[in-house]
Amino acid sequence: MSSVTSVVERLAITALLLLLPGHVVAADAPATANRCATCHATLADSRLAKPATLFSQQDVHRESGFRCVDCHGGDAAATGKVRAHDSARGFKGVPAGQAQIATCARCHSDAKLMRRFSPRQRVDQAAEYVTSVHGKRLASGDTRVATCANCHGAHGIRLVKDAKSPVFPTNVAGTCATCHASATHMNGYTLDNGKPLPTTQLADYQRSVHAAALTKGHDLSAPTCNDCHGNHGAAPPGVGAVVNVCGTCHAVFAQKFDTSVHRQIFDKSCVECHGNHAIAKPSDDMLGTGANAICGTCHSGPDDKGAAAADGMRAAIERLKAGIEGSGSLVARVRNAGMETSAQEIALGTARSQLTLARTEMHASDAARLTPIVDDGLKIVAEVDRAGERAVSELRYRRRGLALSLGAILLVVVALGLKIRQVDRRT
Ligand code: HEC
Ligand code: HEC
Ligand code: HEC
Ligand code: HEC
Ligand code: HEC
Ligand code: HEC
Ligand code: HEC
Ligand code: HEC
Ligand code: HEC
Repeated sequence: MSSVTSVVERLAITALLLLLPGHVVAADAPATANRCATCHATLADSRLAKPATLFSQQDVHRESGFRCVDCHGGDAAATGKVRAHDSARGFKGVPAGQAQIATCARCHSDAKLMRRFSPRQRVDQAAEYVTSVHGKRLASGDTRVATCANCHGAHGIRLVKDAKSPVFPTNVAGTCATCHASATHMNGYTLDNGKPLPTTQLADYQRSVHAAALTKGHDLSAPTCNDCHGNHGAAPPGVGAVVNVCGTCHAVFAQKFDTSVHRQIFDKSCVECHGNHAIAKPSDDMLGTGANAICGTCHSGPDDKGAAAADGMRAAIERLKAGIEGSGSLVARVRNAGMETSAQEIALGTARSQLTLARTEMHASDAARLTPIVDDGLKIVAEVDRAGERAVSELRYRRRGLALSLGAILLVVVALGLKIRQVDRRT
């Protein structure tokens, strides 16, 4: 219902706008006439007909009262092709390259116009685009980069929050991959080090914790391509370089990392250890100098303080983990025997939080800061163990008591039996 009213409202606004001087809608045609669409819908060549069908089915621009001429120019009221396509009437043909950016920017960079239709919408897309690799390369004449229509389409454009939009979170990776996963399209581009630009971003991303959270976990806060690379600019606002993007979501890890010795040394912060596209679920095996440990790739040998710190932190984490596991099975045993353990279970939960805190604190690369966190956890574990052992001995005591009383009852029964038999024999 509300969408119907908003369409009506927009049509009313459009009609009003037509009366304003300098409005973008061609003022010499009635707002409803769109003979471009009428003719194009009947054309046999699908390249020419599809824009008209897509536009008439569902399109934010049509819904706001815009027509073909708002992007292509020409005469919307003309029934004949020649007059309709007359360049004297502003016909521009198919907007490509910089001309396409200008076509979309004419409205999308016009704050006054956009405010009338969509007050909260940003108007910096074209300004941001200029700062991106796509925009810079387009400016230097490269037409293989993404322009507005490559990511949004040109006809049948939907609101970005529409699940069918090509830029909806779950569709973005596929949209970027139309170029970035194509070796032929990306042929000839190189990284700073001269190696060919990889085309594996989509495949790598699909293996990541982030893709799993987004597609399997339905967690729309998990990042896809544009959350790290920006929608239009070189990087999301406030991030500076793409390699600093992780901290926008993982703030506590970034804080810890900022205090670490690596902060000054690593060019790519988190990415040095976790990678960028194929980020795997971290495990304790990553810490230390063992087979799958990441620290060992740079730190090794008896004199390396980094190696010593890595192994020390790993050992501390393993100690706490083993302690929690041991206490956990003790508490389970007591609980299965029917005794109250809720206080111990809450305490173990706190110990598990200490383990998580330790894994976070590890990002400061300072064993001295990790030790007190682990020690606090171990203290809790020790208390739980003591309580567990008290419960076990009470259990033993109760069992012994039970056995004794059972024995006593048995004796009485036997004695009674004997007595009854004695009485029987007498009578
Ligand atoms: C009477 C039919 C007819 C009308 C009306 C018409 N067109 Fe076309 N249009 C065509 C045909 C046919 C072509 C194929 C190219 C050609 O024959 O010039 C075409 C091609 C185009 C192209 C592609 C040009 C290219 O270089 O590939 C665009 C864009 C276009 N028309 C937009 C419009 C717009 C905008 C209007 C309204 C102002 C319009 N057309 C009105 C028939 C029409
Ligand atoms: C929001 C702006 C916009 C509107 C409105 C619009 N177009 Fe387009 N049109 C474009 C852009 C941009 C392209 C180039 C797309 C590309 O390169 O992928 C294009 C391409 C085309 C083409 C060439 C298609 C091809 O594959 O070569 C035709 C034909 C066309 N438009 C006709 C129309 C008709 C007819 C309408 C109205 C029913 C219309 N357009 C409405 C922006 C628009
Ligand atoms: C490389 C792909 C890409 C290009 C190129 C691109 N966009 Fe976007 N655009 C996106 C993504 C992704 C979003 C955000 C979707 C979301 O918010 O989830 C977006 C959002 C938008 C929005 C919604 C408001 C906003 O800013 O969030 C508008 C309007 C828009 N783009 C217009 C444009 C225009 C105009 C151009 C050309 C100057 C352009 N886009 C170029 C990918 C692109
Ligand atoms: C004639 C003015 C005009 C032109 C030209 C124009 N747009 Fe728009 N566009 C609008 C208006 C107004 C809206 C807001 C509609 C709404 O929110 O309902 C809009 C909405 C959008 C949205 C949806 C934004 C959202 O909030 O989800 C996208 C994406 C978009 N336009 C992309 C483009 C692209 C790409 C081009 C160029 C091919 C283009 N526009 C050309 C006026 C225009
Ligand atoms: C129409 C094809 C096309 C689409 C769609 C496209 N790109 Fe690109 N992109 C390119 C080309 C071509 C380059 C230039 C390669 C270069 O300069 O290394 C590029 C460059 C880049 C770069 C810079 C790479 C470098 O050199 O470090 C990034 C990052 C990027 N694109 C991300 C994206 C994201 C994210 C999306 C989707 C939201 C996207 N692209 C959609 C074609 C495309
Ligand atoms: C979690 C954040 C993140 C996500 C999600 C992400 N990227 Fe990246 N991407 C990065 C970082 C960080 C770099 C820079 C790495 C460097 O400087 O070595 C990068 C580099 C790139 C490059 C330059 C070439 C390369 O491979 O090093 C391209 C192109 C690119 N990404 C495209 C994409 C595309 C397409 C997607 C979606 C399928 C995507 N990225 C998803 C963070 C991300
Ligand atoms: C847009 C927000 C966002 C950005 C940007 C982001 N992440 Fe994530 N990350 C998430 C979400 C959401 C999850 C899944 C939920 C969770 O486990 O925390 C996640 C999960 C992870 C995990 C797995 C955590 C676990 O316990 O299983 C790691 C490791 C990770 N991200 C590292 C990074 C790195 C490195 C970067 C930068 C290259 C980055 N993230 C960028 C939101 C983000
Ligand atoms: C020096 C290497 C290194 C750097 C740099 C690094 N990490 Fe980690 N990260 C690790 C290791 C090793 C683990 C696994 C710790 C464990 O499970 O014992 C980990 C684990 C994680 C986890 C999962 C924690 C958990 O509770 O399981 C997240 C999320 C994470 N890192 C995010 C980040 C972010 C964000 C950054 C950048 C601010 C970053 N990391 C920088 C090595 C690193
Ligand atoms: C990409 C290489 C690299 C990785 C991976 C790496 N480091 Fe480092 N680390 C360095 C460099 C370089 C230094 C400074 C030189 C030095 O002291 O060895 C350093 C220094 C340190 C220091 C300070 C040593 C001192 O002299 O006081 C500690 C502690 C440390 N790293 C721990 C770790 C831990 C723990 C991990 C794994 C989670 C790790 N590092 C992973 C490169 C790395």
